[in-house]
Amino acid sequence: MNVQMADAEITVHTAASIDRIAPEIHGHFAEHLGRCIYGGIWHADSADGDGFREDTVSLLEDLELPVLRWPGGCFADDYHWEDGVGPQDERPRRRNLFWAQGPEELPEESNSFGSDEFLELCERIGTEPYLAANVGSGSPQEAANWVEYCNYDGDTELADRRRENGREDPYGVKYWGLGNENWGCGGQMSPEQYAREYRRYATYVGTQANLMFDHDLELIACGFEGHEWNRRFLEEINEAPWGAEFPLDHLTLHHYYGRGTNVAEADEDKYDRMLAEALEMERHIERMAGAINAVATTRDIGVIIDEWGTWHPEATADNGLEQEGTVFDALSAAAVLNIFNDNSDVVTMTNIAQTVNVLQCLVETDEDDAWARPTYRVFDLYAPHKGNEAVRTSVDTPTRDVVDGDSNDELPLVNASASVGDDGTYVTVTNLDCRSAQTVDVSLEGTDLNEDDIRGEILFAEQEPDYAVTKHNADEFTADDLAVPADGSSIEVELPPSTVAAISVE
Ligand code: AHR
Repeated sequence: MNVQMADAEITVHTAASIDRIAPEIHGHFAEHLGRCIYGGIWHADSADGDGFREDTVSLLEDLELPVLRWPGGCFADDYHWEDGVGPQDERPRRRNLFWAQGPEELPEESNSFGSDEFLELCERIGTEPYLAANVGSGSPQEAANWVEYCNYDGDTELADRRRENGREDPYGVKYWGLGNENWGCGGQMSPEQYAREYRRYATYVGTQANLMFDHDLELIACGFEGHEWNRRFLEEINEAPWGAEFPLDHLTLHHYYGRGTNVAEADEDKYDRMLAEALEMERHIERMAGAINAVATTRDIGVIIDEWGTWHPEATADNGLEQEGTVFDALSAAAVLNIFNDNSDVVTMTNIAQTVNVLQCLVETDEDDAWARPTYRVFDLYAPHKGNEAVRTSVDTPTRDVVDGDSNDELPLVNASASVGDDGTYVTVTNLDCRSAQTVDVSLEGTDLNEDDIRGEILFAEQEPDYAVTKHNADEFTADDLAVPADGSSIEVELPPSTVAAISVE
């Protein structure tokens, strides 16, 4: 035991609480884009109103997604919800301004999957819905009407319309986003312009909550990766003439990475660069939280990352943003989830893009089958963190210099996070080194370690980073047992290149 020096040392400060890990940190995002909804979740040609794919639904149900964002993305700011409710044969076929519904398909929207279908999906898989209302081309009235249709239990035309459409009880949708990327596809707005729009929308959508529903709504504003934009947005929010009466509960940003390189063509240097890009997530969270603390001093605003993950060049609008599901992508997701845990005092939700068939999806389908991608296995491995208390870790790790043009970054080769809950302490660790194994010592402050109380699991020990899932090999990506020898004060684990491990200590 410990005859050789470990490459990295992790100390878990079990009494140094950060905050509860919001289960919503494991949220997802589904847009009317490519084969995500049509073909992936819903049979594209379903005309009878019951087109759910049972295979996809069952995989999503097993994963216990806490929250699902819909209908976009860019699509949200050209979506008119009333087109997608009522009898299927009366729903209008519309343009989809941004996306075709699969390779070789036209950019058209059948509207056969609308609000009632989405909200039924959420109930089937036991997830909380997060609806993104149209700010770019819609109106505050349209948004307020959508909330009333979904949530009101009284005697109004919209509540009755929901009942006529087959749903007696209100859905109780809590999370409402006002727009999407309104600095870009959601209307190309300046931060001041979006802040004024936000105030208008939030006034009409938010006011309803006081009188009409027996639950609170949480309203979500769109931010940007350029943090000066966020600061200016928040400053203009503060300029409300009659005081800050309208709700603003969360501010979001989107962070995609890997845009320069397809995994199949990457070498180790490119893996390093893409991982360094993924880890920039931490700086984005800190900068957004910093702007909120500095400017929005009278409000309690959470940080949401409601689109994130890899976006490689092979994923283009022409192929419905489809890319391979690789070990590398899953590894990067594991590292980012560790960052979310470490920032659980400010991060209230995240939504990886996108649930099925698109970008870094968790589930992939063809006409006959649905199967889990490697990233699905990471979410499964990290599930015990959900709702636990995140605690501080110190990670003493080797690093590698990553040079990309003029910028120079340092990639930590090991990253980790830890949480404490009813079942003990849960530690997740990545070996981000795609070249070499890392020996990692893990100790828990104030804990005598007894091997009988420790369990380890590991993902991807046998696979190269560019190994991609197909429907035939999907079972190869499940977790294996990891040897967790302990000497009383520490556990020593051997992590092969590009692997993800979890250690639980009762
Ligand atoms: O997820 C694909 C697109 O990426 C979304 O529609 C948009 O919000 C983002 O730019």
